[in-house]
Amino acid sequence: MFQDMGVGVNVRNVSRIPGLQRADLVRSEAFIGGAWVGAESRILVDNPADGSVVGDVPNLGAAEAMDAVTAARDAMPGWQGLTGKARGEVLRRWSQLMLAHAEDLARIMTGEQGKPLTEARGEVAYAAGFLEWFAEEARRVNGHVLTPHAADKRLTVLRRPVGVVAAITPWNFPLAMITRKAGPALAVGCAMVLKPSELTPLSALALAKLAEEAGVPPGVFNVITGEAAPIGEVLTGDPRVRKFTFTGSTAVGKMLAARCMATVKRVSLELGGNAPFIVFDDADIEAAVDGAVASKFRNTGQTCVCANRFFVQTGIHDRFAAALAERVGGFRLGSGLTGEFDQGPLIDARAVAKVRAHIADAVEAGARILTGGQSAGGLFFEPTVLVDVKPDALVNREETFGPLAAITRFETESEAVRMANDTSAGLAAYVFTKDMSRSVRLSEALECGMVGLNTGLISTEIAPFGGIKESGMGREGSRYGLEDYLDLKLVCAEIDLE
Ligand code: SIN
Repeated sequence: MFQDMGVGVNVRNVSRIPGLQRADLVRSEAFIGGAWVGAESRILVDNPADGSVVGDVPNLGAAEAMDAVTAARDAMPGWQGLTGKARGEVLRRWSQLMLAHAEDLARIMTGEQGKPLTEARGEVAYAAGFLEWFAEEARRVNGHVLTPHAADKRLTVLRRPVGVVAAITPWNFPLAMITRKAGPALAVGCAMVLKPSELTPLSALALAKLAEEAGVPPGVFNVITGEAAPIGEVLTGDPRVRKFTFTGSTAVGKMLAARCMATVKRVSLELGGNAPFIVFDDADIEAAVDGAVASKFRNTGQTCVCANRFFVQTGIHDRFAAALAERVGGFRLGSGLTGEFDQGPLIDARAVAKVRAHIADAVEAGARILTGGQSAGGLFFEPTVLVDVKPDALVNREETFGPLAAITRFETESEAVRMANDTSAGLAAYVFTKDMSRSVRLSEALECGMVGLNTGLISTEIAPFGGIKESGMGREGSRYGLEDYLDLKLVCAEIDLE
């Protein structure tokens, strides 16, 4: 929510998140060039669980975005000049500080994003893992020496930091989507300007505070808060930004990437998915239900890798659907800051409306509701399981981003593969079967960047995360995650052989 607070109205420095050890981790200023920068115009940050204001941050614009790019450009030579080991030590301290303040970071995240506290704690560890992983990788950014094409030539391929990196990150993973980008960028010697979602800026600023304490030099990691349009224009248009990385919706990603082409920036995109979740008759039903709960209902269904389309073979269909409905029908819904819950609210009213629309469309065409189907007050929505969903239902064509498992029945393997690939998205897919040969066939046939075989959880800092088709380009995490922040440079030397 944007609000011009006006002179004399001061909502700053009020910690509205209870139970913090360090209230100073809730920042009310942006972080540019190592300085904390305020503004009269404010953005209020709401807790989606109850609509209460949990913080406020400056509503900055194009001028401050340019300042941040200047700070990053100026900081880069010094940072790049350090050894990989020295940069890694800073990243490691940052990761350790995250873990030392994990409980506070989790509470801040739950306060502004709504996910249950247990999930927020998990995300803090996941996010810190990226910094730790890339702290280690920083020492392994090696080039190559090639066998030359002439006796008097010597060919060396250097891997150089791409330059100033601009990042725009989403609200669904307020920490992990930042460290998954900042980790590799900083490890190889780049400096970064980050624009977090205006819905969840507090986690990003807490991270910046810990970066400062870890010894990340001024200007190497900048966080600018404000409206997306003016800041985005600078981050995609300023020629000093050499790399743009975005996690968010496919529509916005395409638009931002197109803008980046005017200055031919390197671009990586982690966009929407429409993951199939395929259960074969021979699957372990308990494992399939566990996998469905993990991949569909994590973060109230608000992850890009969430199962979105359930294809279940006829022989196991009724048992699987009933077991899933029973499991999620027992979820406890509530505000993560007030107790232990299985599911939090959706992020906003538009998200609730989308879940409703997908249910209404499917039911109109003959789907049956096994559990849920209704709003549970405010931004909460009952975990919902539908059966007899038509392959062309809205829910099968669009990512729901909510707690709705929509099940379509199938008979044969080839039918399942055909339906699974019938989408422009290609991020994740899940397959449950005990048949080894079928696992291999499907791993190869499914058009996506990541396959979960008999598991609903595929995310780890160790493995490459990313999609194909309209789900994006580039990979994050793992050793491959460095590549998007590196340019290759050839040095071709002619030498005197005498
Ligand atoms: C996402 O939803 O974009 C990220 C999910 C994950 O890292 O597991």
